[in-house]
Amino acid sequence: MRLKDRVAIVTGGASGIGKAAAECFVREGARVVIADFNPDGIEKTVAEIVSAGGRATGQVVDVSNREQTQMMARKVVEQQGRIDILLNNAGISRYRPFATAIAEDWDAVLGVDLKGVFFCAQSVAPAMIKQCYGRIVNISSALGTGAAPHNTAGSPGGSAAYASAKAGVIMLTKTLARELGPHGVTVNCVAPGTFVTPISSSSRTPEQVSEHLEHRKKTVVLGRIGALAELSSAILFFASDDSSYVTGQTLQVDGGRSDRM
Ligand code: NAI
Repeated sequence: MRLKDRVAIVTGGASGIGKAAAECFVREGARVVIADFNPDGIEKTVAEIVSAGGRATGQVVDVSNREQTQMMARKVVEQQGRIDILLNNAGISRYRPFATAIAEDWDAVLGVDLKGVFFCAQSVAPAMIKQCYGRIVNISSALGTGAAPHNTAGSPGGSAAYASAKAGVIMLTKTLARELGPHGVTVNCVAPGTFVTPISSSSRTPEQVSEHLEHRKKTVVLGRIGALAELSSAILFFASDDSSYVTGQTLQVDGGRSDRM
């Protein structure tokens, strides 16, 4: 077991990528805190993990609110005694062509996808520094590493806010790695390509989702859509001591996107 008795906070852990990673952490022996702003999703995910024999609790939190992220970190330390791992995964997307983009979308996306990463990392850092140990794993996106064609192949136009936030996560990873490294805390990042989760359909019609997946299969060198388990294993690498001498890095887990190689 690679995470035996580690305490791991997974933001956005009630759905999709975060839920799969949380389940993977539990299988590796971790005690997981599902930190999400969807109370029903938290309850369901915690119940599923516990009924399968795992250890999980929930925290309702809006990661874009610093008071709430600080409260979350305080409660986890009170209840679990320590925080070993933070998976900064909570995210939203809103697409709108640049010419008609609105400030509310920009603020919402940057607030959750970038500021949320900053707030959560800053909130857990004191506990990790005190322990001289920590693993922070941030989730960026293929859209943070290069621009995608818009209004084609099932991708809606206008990812300026999302792409800016996700590119920011990569640079934030490097700067945090520098500041926290001397305290025994590593900070790394995973940039997923296309994985089927609720976010895939949050800005697309069902037809656009199918078109997008068909297009993606043709534009990754492995020729297929990845399974969430294939992403969880990369996240686990950075969350565990398998990556003990790696920090500040971003790993693209995308099946080999031909427009990113
Ligand atoms: P999802 O929509 O299934 O899950 C996102 C989770 O974040 C949900 O449980 C939601 O309640 C939670 N969340 C949203 N705003 C929050 C807030 N303010 N505070 C706390 N929790 C909040 O989406 P998915 O696909 O699992 O996405 C996870 C991460 O992976 C996101 O950061 C996303 O941008 C990123 N990503 C996803 C890709 C994909 O193809 N699914 C590709 C690249 C990146």
